[in-house]
Amino acid sequence: MVDVILGLQWGDEGKGKIVDYFAKDYDVVARFQGGPNAGHTLYVQDKKVVLHQIPSGVFHANKLNLIGNGVVLDPVTLRKECATVSSFGIDLKKNLFISERTHLILPTHRALDKAAELAKGNDKIGSTLKGIGPTYMDKTGRNGLRVGDLLDKNFTTQYIKLRLKHQKLLDNFQFNEDISSWEEEFFEALEFLRELNIVNGEYFINEQLANGKRVLAEGAQGSMLDIDFGTFPFVTSSNTVSAGVCSGLGVAPQKIRDVFGVTKAYCTRVGSGPFPTELEDETGERLRKIGNEFGATTGRPRRCGWIDLVALNFACMINGVTKIVMTKADVLDAFEELQVCTSYDLNGKQSKQIPFRLEKQKLTPVYEQFKGWNTPTSEVRDFGSLPQTMKEYVAFINQYLGVDVHFISNGPGRDQLIAI
Ligand code: GDP
Ligand code: IMO
Ligand code: MG
Repeated sequence: MVDVILGLQWGDEGKGKIVDYFAKDYDVVARFQGGPNAGHTLYVQDKKVVLHQIPSGVFHANKLNLIGNGVVLDPVTLRKECATVSSFGIDLKKNLFISERTHLILPTHRALDKAAELAKGNDKIGSTLKGIGPTYMDKTGRNGLRVGDLLDKNFTTQYIKLRLKHQKLLDNFQFNEDISSWEEEFFEALEFLRELNIVNGEYFINEQLANGKRVLAEGAQGSMLDIDFGTFPFVTSSNTVSAGVCSGLGVAPQKIRDVFGVTKAYCTRVGSGPFPTELEDETGERLRKIGNEFGATTGRPRRCGWIDLVALNFACMINGVTKIVMTKADVLDAFEELQVCTSYDLNGKQSKQIPFRLEKQKLTPVYEQFKGWNTPTSEVRDFGSLPQTMKEYVAFINQYLGVDVHFISNGPGRDQLIAI
């Protein structure tokens, strides 16, 4: 059986912390999409760790972690991350596995990402510049190199061929930064990668399932950044939704049991693109400050706003969410009043649906106002002790979405999670 944890908003919902907490009940934790654009924060022995490529179950001894075929992998990031994880005494030779079908991010993919963003000018996506888009383009364009290719004696020839192709594109963009140092680190990191456990991911995971093992699939980014269902073109380049689990790991749909959807008690977005409930005022600034809303991968300030139930409802529908995890509830502790977006006003017409090309619409969010709880909650460990006003806030969300919040996270620590 496979359970899934994924983001319902525009990323950074706190997936890393939740996966780290849940991992104790599973045998395998597997990433199914995305790459080093992800930044999943967890606390290990009171130390903050941000994972970009390695699944967030890695700090539990005796759990297996798989980087699935749907992921794009930057060997340089992986090598650095492995060094951090190993410094906590984790034996990666024993518990990290990488699918041979996982596509490699080359230095020229990163250069192309940068060149393409620069060329877009004001229309830029706000990419993390980790080479995600160009690598997925080479995957669907049937040009990319995969982890399994590293074991082929012709790897360098294949690399040079692709690099030449990329160089022509870079010349077109008039991109002439020297990336020779990136290439040097890349080839060093490849030597390291060759020594890790490279496996046939789909047989690996299906054998685990056949043996009755429990698998937790960890999503990166969020549903509103999905290549098909997100706010295109301001999205990432993979399927972040639950359907991506099947194609990103090689598991059949009927193997999926629960889909845990993670949402903040409010909402954030980093990078460009539409964000209906964004607060470009003092309240937004307060959310950013109290929530420490700065990107875990790029350090950029995150845009902040109220929770958007129209977008959440859409995400629940696309993912088949069975249980909701609400994070960062403690960030709202000091607010006297809270707003919840329940519909969009589109040129005078109310709608509860996400329109095509959200950014082109003249849209005003319609809010329902709630009283804040105005009490510190981060020390609370049981649902009964939470303020009544928070319970009412949660009950309203449950009723609107038709899916219940099963966990409330009230701090970044592993133990700051309340089951309902
Ligand atoms: P992810 O990408 O979904 O894993 O989320 P990030 O790690 O990018 O961002 C979430 C941030 O919120 C991290 O700094 C977490 O340590 C922090 N965090 C997670 N859950 C909570 C919570 O319930 N309360 C507070 N205050 N911080 C949290
Ligand atoms: P986690 O897993 C938040 C955003 C970028 C940009 C857009 C495209 O930590 O939640 P890309 O680098 O993929 O080409 O960028 O997507 N983005 C994220 N935002 N959290 C993430 O990951 C993100 N990964 C990508 O800011 O707007
Ligand atoms: Mg993040």
